[in-house]
Amino acid sequence: MKELEKITTPTIIQLPKILDKRGNLSFFENDNQIPFSIARTYWIFDVPGGEERGGHAFKSQKEFIIALSGSFDVVLHNGKEEIKFSLNRSYYGLYVPEMYWRRMENFSTNSLALIVSDKLFDADDYIRDFENYKKNRNE
Ligand code: TYD
Repeated sequence: MKELEKITTPTIIQLPKILDKRGNLSFFENDNQIPFSIARTYWIFDVPGGEERGGHAFKSQKEFIIALSGSFDVVLHNGKEEIKFSLNRSYYGLYVPEMYWRRMENFSTNSLALIVSDKLFDADDYIRDFENYKKNRNE
């Protein structure tokens, strides 16, 4: 088993950073830098000041979230406690395993959140009720 696949808790993953006078470059590729194979990419942009995104958990989907531009906070709840990750650089990201309640908040102006996931979009994979989530998580 690859080392990356052993990661089972939310983790900040540093990405390769190729520094260059012409401008810097960073990247990740299928299960070399992140602990899953990518099935889907989406991004969140033009978030008005003070708005929140998320407010749900995924039953099986894993995600990797990067602040490609600007900054925002990802607040995760594991059914017992909350932990906040501030993302503000494009050369690291947050791995979010399945079954973490998550919301994203405190978006800076012009921030851009890139999210890759190991699953295609599936509305049935969402848990949108927090009490229901906690019950499932703590069973
Ligand atoms: P949602 O995941 O609830 O957004 P957030 O967690 O950022 O607040 O998705 C918002 C809407 O977009 C919802 O109607 C589902 C749709 N959607 C897709 O069609 N495909 C996708 O890949 C995603 C992430 C969302």
